[in-house]
Amino acid sequence: MERLFTSVIIPAAGQGRRMNASINKQYLTLSGKPILAHTLDVFERCPLINEIILVVNKEEFRICQQQVLKLYHYKKVHLVEGGDTRQESVYQGLKAVNPRADIVMTHDGARPIIQESVIIESIYETMKHQATVVGVPAKNTIKVINVDGFVEHTPDRDYLVEIQTPQTFAFKLLREAHESARKEGIEGTDDAFLVERLGHPVKIVTGHYTNIKITTPEDLIIAESIIKRFDKNDKRGKKN
Ligand code: CTP
Ligand code: MG
Repeated sequence: MERLFTSVIIPAAGQGRRMNASINKQYLTLSGKPILAHTLDVFERCPLINEIILVVNKEEFRICQQQVLKLYHYKKVHLVEGGDTRQESVYQGLKAVNPRADIVMTHDGARPIIQESVIIESIYETMKHQATVVGVPAKNTIKVINVDGFVEHTPDRDYLVEIQTPQTFAFKLLREAHESARKEGIEGTDDAFLVERLGHPVKIVTGHYTNIKITTPEDLIIAESIIKRFDKNDKRGKKN
């Protein structure tokens, strides 16, 4: 079988408003290097990833070059200008994907603790199902409420999954999903939603609770301690 060509789009063009820092959260230091460098490292190292489309704000091209790209010498990275929403940033990324790509995954720049095994499983499952998202079983009880703040109903937790990234698709399917959403003015909070709209089934790949999205200041403390624990286990020769 001919080898698959897989691209990853990494949207990193947000404002990081909830982090309340003076710079975009992707450039904050986590365990000695920028958050974004942690994220890129994993995909650069993964042999199943052929190219990385990194989506960045125009005003941040310089900081990205100087603080991340130049220092860590990535070979797979192509830099693309982002848009006003995550969806628009991913769409800009899609336009830069190599036309020979079979599979495209999206992964938030702000999720630095992604394990290679999850990336690999996502690609294998996508070969079977064309659309997969990484998620973990919901730990909390989730309630659906109405506009007045009263509970409408409580879904069975056994069927609730908290969705993360990567989200992985057949290239053609993701492109069609984004183009259709754009045409109809639909804004979704993740890529899978746009694929679900087309009526295509999306399979869950079970991930890890450690794959957090760095969103608010306390997430940095949590991420720092997860990385420390991982490093300790590595030194003891253990797998996480
Ligand atoms: N993102 C992007 N382009 C946008 C908005 C978001 O590429 N216009 C990226 C972010 O940089 C981040 C990922 O999408 O890596 C997930 O978004 P989120 O965690 O919400 O990041 P921000 O939008 O930057 O943060 P906030 O919502 O707190 O402003
Ligand atoms: Mg946001």
